[in-house]
Parts: sequence; structure tokens; C-alpha cells
Amino acid sequence: MSTIKFYSGETMPLEMHRVRVVQKLQLLPVEERLRTLRGAGSNLYLIPNRAIYMDMLTDSGVNAMSDDQVAAMMNADDAYAGSETYYKLEAKCREVFGFDYFLPAHQGRAAENLIATTWIKPGHIIPMNYHFTTTRAHFTLKGGRVVEILKDDGLIVNSDEPFKGDIDLDKLRAVIAEHGAENIPFVRIEAGTNLIGGQPVSLANIIAVEEICRSLGIKMLMDASLLQDNLYFIKQREPGCQDKSIRELMLEVCSHFDIFYFSARKLGFARGGGICLRTKEMWDDMKEFVPLYEGFLTYGGMSIREMAAITVGLDETLDEEIIAQGPTFITYMVEELHKRGIPVVRPAGGLGCHVDAGAFVPQIPGLQYPAAALCAAYYLAGGIRTMERGTLSEERDENGNEVIAHMELMRCAMPRRVFTLSQVNYAIDRLAWLWDNRHLIEGLRFVEEPNTLRFFVGRLEPVSDWQEKLAAAFRRDFPDSL
Ligand code: F0G
Repeated sequence: MSTIKFYSGETMPLEMHRVRVVQKLQLLPVEERLRTLRGAGSNLYLIPNRAIYMDMLTDSGVNAMSDDQVAAMMNADDAYAGSETYYKLEAKCREVFGFDYFLPAHQGRAAENLIATTWIKPGHIIPMNYHFTTTRAHFTLKGGRVVEILKDDGLIVNSDEPFKGDIDLDKLRAVIAEHGAENIPFVRIEAGTNLIGGQPVSLANIIAVEEICRSLGIKMLMDASLLQDNLYFIKQREPGCQDKSIRELMLEVCSHFDIFYFSARKLGFARGGGICLRTKEMWDDMKEFVPLYEGFLTYGGMSIREMAAITVGLDETLDEEIIAQGPTFITYMVEELHKRGIPVVRPAGGLGCHVDAGAFVPQIPGLQYPAAALCAAYYLAGGIRTMERGTLSEERDENGNEVIAHMELMRCAMPRRVFTLSQVNYAIDRLAWLWDNRHLIEGLRFVEEPNTLRFFVGRLEPVSDWQEKLAAAFRRDFPDSL
């Protein structure tokens, strides 16, 4: 349990850990935030960490480690080949996920590269509930085409649908009928579907998709990077799952897949990644690519110390009290913003609180990147770094035309065990101020646009002097405060 009933009657998140190691932060005055933003081409990826008060960019590789993880790192077995630490990680993956075969990769996208290199051929179709940026880039690079078959409800921002990440089974049948099972190497299910707001997939949907795929000989692929929060939601929300332990649910979910990969920057509270495979043949097909792209089979590009931390982190992933912390804080932020009339993705998902930028700044046209503009404005308002998940994160199509995203979201990620509740309250407060001043926010345009994954390093500029005006409004309302 990581919420508690207060004497006042309110239910509040309660941290089930104590903080032993801390890092000093600074909050720059708004004038310096404005200068920093300009210097970074309004792209928050290009802002140095020292200029950030609250880093809500991602939960990737920045979750707080436990005392047990740090202790395990001190005791790791260094070796290029045959490290004992690697064998412990491999055994832990077998135990926790229930697959017989494992291969290491240095992070999630590296696993995607190995999977695409091994199984995707030009002309292949890869149906999935929803794409992730790096997944689609890797699958497309190998000549595959990603087809999204999310159920329509998944894209409704504010609803009471508990499993927005579910696949629409009719769309799946239609894709198979159109392209033929022989052109579909696998169906990919992304747990905790990232780009639609960290929304979970139900166990019932996984089982139904498997039934269709098995009968046609199509493999099942899971991207488990965000499975931790997804399992928590299955236990909370899915009928018949309340009495099962997270360990049981993990094994049950995994049992429906042939290939299972994860970013250990998310799943496992450390930095690294891995791929679990059902058969020796699959392992043989892939294993020679590991030394080529990642590193020898017993480290795969990961540091030995991180492997030790992942091994302990995976056990912690099975502890409901530990994994509740993320969803509990996120739900708190989502509901507090909702109470203030601020448009957010509901119900709360995993990973972070997702603000509906399309509704926050409807005055900004899609081609002026509403979500990116909102992220820049929020940095000005609070020194808070968030992530754009909208049109800026899309790739241009084969004719070079812009693709307008289904959703324009500002993601306020909640790295686990990193923020205190007073910091979350600060983030809510500064967003409430921004909401009242939202008429001042205008769009952005590219100054330098990279060809691929442009959101990472592209540089933009505001379409007018709106950032100066927003900073001035902040200074008027907070004359003596940062
Ligand atoms: N799959 C999903 C669902 C992810 O969320 C990510 C990363 C990856 C694959 C790639 O993993 O970063 O270890 O290479 N998501 C990060 C994020 C970047 O901020 O959401 P990676």
C-alpha cells in the first residue's frame, strides 16, 4: 500500500521508503530560464541538467536505486566473458519472466535493432497496439511497415476506459486478411502504451490476440519496458486478477509471448536491456548479432555493475508496495490537475502525468507544435523539464510531408522514488499558473530539422516574442519568488 487515509478524511500518497542519498538542486530565476530556453532552441533535450529544477523528461535510467541495488553493484564480477554477474541476471530473467532463453542488449532500442535485424524483411507488416518512436524507426529501417491497431477508445483523452492500450481484434483480423499471415513476422504488444499516455493493456486482450495469432502461426512479441505499471493496473483494474500476486501475473502475461524485450532503464530500475526468447532456434537465429552490435554474449553492452543492479531491481519489480509508488504519485497529480480544470489524460496511466496540449493551447496549429510549445512554456513557468509527445515526435512521411500526431501530449514523467510530494505540488501549482496564462502561449517553428528522430536534437524558435511576454507575466505575478 502506498496511499493512506488521513485523519482529515483525504486519501494521500505515502512514500514507503526513506531517502538516504540526496542531490542538491537549484531553481534559476525566470529571466535565466528564458535565456537558457533560447540557447537550447526551445528544445528541452538541449538544456543542461544544472538549469533544471524538476526533471520530468523521462523515467528512463533515472529511477532512484534501492540500498540493495547499490550494494549489489559493489559486489559485481568483472569479466568480458563468463561473468558470474551475467549468469545471475540470466537466471533472474528465467525465474521472473519464465522464458528459457535470454540475450543481453545495452538498452531497449538496441533490443529492437536485434529483433528487427533477425526477423524483419523488406515488405513485412508489423501490427501493433501503438508504435513507440525508436521501435518504428528500427522496424522501418529494415523495410518493415508498422500498422497501428489500437482500439478506437484508446485515443479518447478523458474517459473511464481502464485498458486503453488494448488491440482492436477486428482490426487485427483485417490486417492479417489484407496482407497474409506469411508477411507478418509478429504482432507487437507494448505494455503501458507509452505514446497514448502510459495506458495499460489487459490480460484478457493479450489472450484474445494470442488465440488469433497462434492459429495462423504468427509470433507474439511484447515490449515490456513499461510492464511494471501495466501489471499494477491489471491487478487493480482487471476482473479476476485482484487475488493474484504480481509475480503470478508477470508469469501469466509472459506465457503468452514468443519474444519479450525490455528497456532496463525502466523495467529493473537501472540501465540496460534484454530479450527473452521461447525456443533454442530463435536464440540461435539472434545470438550472432549480439557480439556484432552490442558486446559479448555475457554483457551485451551493459556495465557489469548495472547488470547486478537490474538483477535486484527485477525482484523489486515484483513487490507491489514498491511498484505502487509511480502510479500513486501519477494519479495524485492527474486528479489534482483535473480538479483545477486542466485537461489531462484520464484515467491516470503509468510513466507520468500526461497533459492534453491540444486542449490546453488550442490556439496553436498542429504544424506549430502545440505540445512542444507547452513544454517550453512550462519550463519558463517552473524550471520543469517535460517531454513533447505529439507532432514534433512524428517523422515526416515518404514525400517529406508533416504528419499530425493523433494526440498532442506534454508528458510529466514521474521517475520512481525521485520526487517528494511537495515537489509534485510545486509542479501542479506552476501548471495551474500557466493554465491561467495560457492565452500568452504561441507556437514554435524549426530552425534546424534533423531527418530522423528530429525531436531529440532539432532546434526551434518561437513564432513571436511570446516567451518574453510569458516570462514578464510570471515576474509580475511572482515579484520576489523564483
Ligand atoms: N519501448 C518503450 C515502450 C519505451 O518507452 C522505450 C523508451 C523504448 C522501447 C526504448 O528503450 O530508451 O532503453 O532504448 N522510452 C524512453 C522514454 C526513452 O522516455 O519514454 P531505451
